[in-house]
Amino acid sequence: MRTSNVSRLGRSISEIGLGCWQLGGDWGDVDDDTSLAILEAAADSGVTFFDTADVYGDGRSERAVGAFLASRDDADAMTVATKMGRRANPHVKEAYTLDAFRAWTDRSRENLGVDTLDLVQLHCPPTEVLFDPTTFDALRTLHDEGRVRSWGVSVERVDEALHVLDEEGLASIQIIVNVFRRKPLERVIGEASDKGVAIIARVPLASGLLSGKYDEATTFPENDHRTYNRQGEAFDVGETFSGVPFEVGVRAAREVAALTPVGWTTAQLALRWLTQSGVATTIPGARSVEQARANAAVGDLPMIDEATMAELARIYHDSIREHVHTQW
Ligand SMILES: NC(=O)c1ccc[n+]([C@@H]2O[C@H](COP(=O)([O-])OP(=O)(O)OC[C@H]3O[C@@H](n4cnc5c(N)ncnc54)[C@H](OP(=O)(O)O)[C@@H]3O)[C@@H](O)[C@H]2O)c1
Repeated sequence: MRTSNVSRLGRSISEIGLGCWQLGGDWGDVDDDTSLAILEAAADSGVTFFDTADVYGDGRSERAVGAFLASRDDADAMTVATKMGRRANPHVKEAYTLDAFRAWTDRSRENLGVDTLDLVQLHCPPTEVLFDPTTFDALRTLHDEGRVRSWGVSVERVDEALHVLDEEGLASIQIIVNVFRRKPLERVIGEASDKGVAIIARVPLASGLLSGKYDEATTFPENDHRTYNRQGEAFDVGETFSGVPFEVGVRAAREVAALTPVGWTTAQLALRWLTQSGVATTIPGARSVEQARANAAVGDLPMIDEATMAELARIYHDSIREHVHTQW
């Protein structure tokens, strides 16, 4: 497993991480035994970076990660990123106060069973939160109080990422980057890397589209956001299939699948594309041990050749760009 050394995090992390939203909810059913097995399979395959949030299953995902950490002799080698903000109801700028940050991080510390959180990220807050200097003063205070080792921001849009990049103490930016979301390649990844800020690429498989395994007739369970957030009914529509209309994504994924090198899966091609695009880590979500292992194996795959990279760019420009580029 290749690793990235991120100066603002003060540690190295695996280039392939594990997204733990699936261990909480919103993706159909995943039972607790399977959750633990997924976490173990990832760690045993070299993954050292885990991304969760206080709202995934209302703490269920954090508690699964906490149980996993408690069971491992090598827990010190793991970096766990969580997120806060989305417990606020209503989810408005005024909820983002230092007192709320303290309460939210205390709950996450308890769920994860740690004194100090490795990394806490604002969870796609209202944009005004990112334009208020008191937000970042409060995050620096959390650090000074020893509640968090480092802090970062998860954002929806490129302009939000560029806006927060100069904040003193910022360790990471989490943003959607994948074969169907190329805009962060233009500036965000390079500028973050120059500053030693980690880019955490989320939704790397466009919610599974980039595995190439769905067709126009595929359906998802009722309690899966790929059923109930298709039009952004519950949260930003960009979090579901990266905001690409499903049928458009299925057709483009077929073209991506045709480029899959022998011995790889299409999901592995999509993940390797990301890890050679300059991000610090990417956090594919997994719903089975097999998926977790296959994703971690990307950390040992060779580079994708230039002709394939050019074709992936062409597919984006021909079929996907018009649906996503200006929106995020
Ligand atoms: N606002 C935020 O900060 C935010 C928002 C979204 C996500 N995230 C984080 O980012 C992580 C990743 O994003 P995501 O989970 O939304 O999307 P994703 O990683 O793009 O897609 C996950 C889905 O891809 C499929 N998959 C995974 N590995 C596979 C493999 N090896 N072969 C075939 N299919 C595979 C599975 O679909 P099936 O279920 O159909 O098998 C899985 O549920 C999340 O877990 C979460 O930690 C953060």
